Amino acid sequence: MNKELRKAVIAGNWKMNKTRPEAKTLIEELKPVAEKATCEVVICVPYTNLETAVELTKGTNIKVGAENVHFEKSGAFTGEISADMLTEIGVEYVIIGHSERRQYYGETDETVNKRTKAALAAGLKPIVCVGELLWERECNITEEVIARQIKLDLYDVSAEDVQKTIIAYEPVWAIGTGKTATSEQAEEVCGFIRETLAKLYGKEVADSVTIQYGGSMNPKNAAELLAQPDVDGGLIGGASLKAADFGVLLDAATNG
Ligand code: PGA
Repeated sequence: MNKELRKAVIAGNWKMNKTRPEAKTLIEELKPVAEKATCEVVICVPYTNLETAVELTKGTNIKVGAENVHFEKSGAFTGEISADMLTEIGVEYVIIGHSERRQYYGETDETVNKRTKAALAAGLKPIVCVGELLWERECNITEEVIARQIKLDLYDVSAEDVQKTIIAYEPVWAIGTGKTATSEQAEEVCGFIRETLAKLYGKEVADSVTIQYGGSMNPKNAAELLAQPDVDGGLIGGASLKAADFGVLLDAATNG
């Protein structure tokens, strides 16, 4: 077990929530809660809250991430935001290929791959999301689906860059549904992701990559999920919107 080689990362995914005043309140509540965390603490917030979040978290241990990034540097891409636009305001992380973007906005493994490479080239740390649909799990093809996503999403990403990348395993059927994968199911797939990375990059590299679980992680189930040998943190939706709940998750990662 090589868990000690990796830093646990708990990342909140606020999705399309929080106006600016609401964001300010939540961040002020999060600061004392996050203070003692020994894991990396990240909040991924809507574009309109990024500058506020960067400003308010200066001098704290809370890092700021975006929820998406475009793959081109600039140009005629109405409504899009480039990686350089994020780094110039102090953003450090970015979620890429979240299942909601794959489901509702036509995100494909090809565009996830392009976004990942653009983020890395600009110095952002990508949180690349993979995960199977419920019917894919029922058809017993979870591993095939995950292996395909890992290979395509990380195509042409160097070993050095993959170590700056976080993989978030988010079974689509567990996101926002209250249905959590059991800790065995989470470990099984996170372990499989590490094996797939080992085939592509070698064991040493694979052992250094942070792999998160995401999908209805909450104060009740976090400790057990985060104690699994290949689960190095979490990507948290609903429970990241309440400081007290997020705090329990940070503690669980610190102790897990
Ligand atoms: P959830 O969302 O924790 O609300 O299930 C997780 C995610 O979508 O990243």
